[in-house]
Amino acid sequence: MTTKQQLIRRAESFCERLGIKLPIVLAPMAGACPTELSIKVAESGGLGACGVLLMSPEQIIEWSRTFKSASDGQFQLNNWIPDPESARDIHKEQLVRDFLSQFSDQDQPDVVDTATPEFDAQCEAMLESSPRVISSIMGVYPDEFITRMKSRGIIWFATATTVREAIEAEEKGADVIVAQGIEAGGHRGTFNADEAEQSMAGLFSLIPAIADVVRLPVVATGGIADARGIASAIVLGASAVQIGTGFLRCPESGIPTAWADAIGNSAPDSTMLTRAFTGRLGRSIATAYAQAAASSDAPIPRPYPIQRALTKQMTAAGRRNNDLDRIQAWAGQSASLAKAVAADKLVRKLWDEALSLLS
Ligand SMILES: Cc1cc2nc3c(=O)[nH]c(=O)nc-3n(C[C@H](O)[C@H](O)[C@H](O)COP(=O)(O)O)c2cc1C
Repeated sequence: MTTKQQLIRRAESFCERLGIKLPIVLAPMAGACPTELSIKVAESGGLGACGVLLMSPEQIIEWSRTFKSASDGQFQLNNWIPDPESARDIHKEQLVRDFLSQFSDQDQPDVVDTATPEFDAQCEAMLESSPRVISSIMGVYPDEFITRMKSRGIIWFATATTVREAIEAEEKGADVIVAQGIEAGGHRGTFNADEAEQSMAGLFSLIPAIADVVRLPVVATGGIADARGIASAIVLGASAVQIGTGFLRCPESGIPTAWADAIGNSAPDSTMLTRAFTGRLGRSIATAYAQAAASSDAPIPRPYPIQRALTKQMTAAGRRNNDLDRIQAWAGQSASLAKAVAADKLVRKLWDEALSLLS
């Protein structure tokens, strides 16, 4: 039986290793992690974060430079491990394009541009940026990159959605497991994209299952947005928590107001899992587009990154026009707990309240 003092000590020793003051980690959120948000989180003692998926190497280096010029705190850089390349099927893509035309005033471009920033170059830029932590999702980094991270003293956080994935990451040399429950907003980190719908563990089951099997510290993520969730995760075996949606209503996140407002009004069952935005399974608000794409007569989404390329015009227009039904409105199941307050105040309040629940 672990005592309350031992639980708090476990969280404190995790913080000491990372050079942070309290065990709250901002979730890496590609497209939704401006430096302002990370700086506030780090200045209040948590760990800042940047999801580099959509960023060029120059942007990654610039993000890190801006963070370091404003804060002595710590941050993680995060990247997706690429899936094997998918075959194109022009006929099936056309079905998706026809479907999307209901949601767009503009004609679909003739050529679907699936180009993404180059993974190897992004990885070089992450190393050059010297973050305290580099994290992975959708798999594990190549051996050579792992060796280079370690030789620079960078801590590797590996996201896992199952016990099996956590063990694989531990065997590859991960330093910390980020256990991602099905409640999480944004994409599921399932290593094999095709298996995402078959591995849907909730965080309450996943934390102890992973903590009992791996020897590494566990960071809990998915549906945690208030002190009750933080305290529960720590009791269940986590050393820290990673929060995404819970920060998206903070003014520093800069997301469109339609999305931020919808987060505040979302019940757990008004979010849904969908491949309709990118081809990879993720949890978003059940917008008109996400719901229409789930109907039985809608075309099956193409694999990532083809589906993301197909929907890009619609989602970009959604952001420009603050139109919820066209935005990729990612949100976790505890969205309604997210507070529209400054991120630094939020971090301190969350940990103070969690500490009183734990002590
Ligand atoms: C807008 C958004 C973007 C995300 N992008 C990434 C990403 O690029 N890399 C990653 O590892 N996780 C990403 N995630 C998942 C988060 O890291 C985390 O697992 C999730 O936010 C936790 O659930 P919560 O939103 O309920 O707190 C994203 C989540 C959101 C909401």
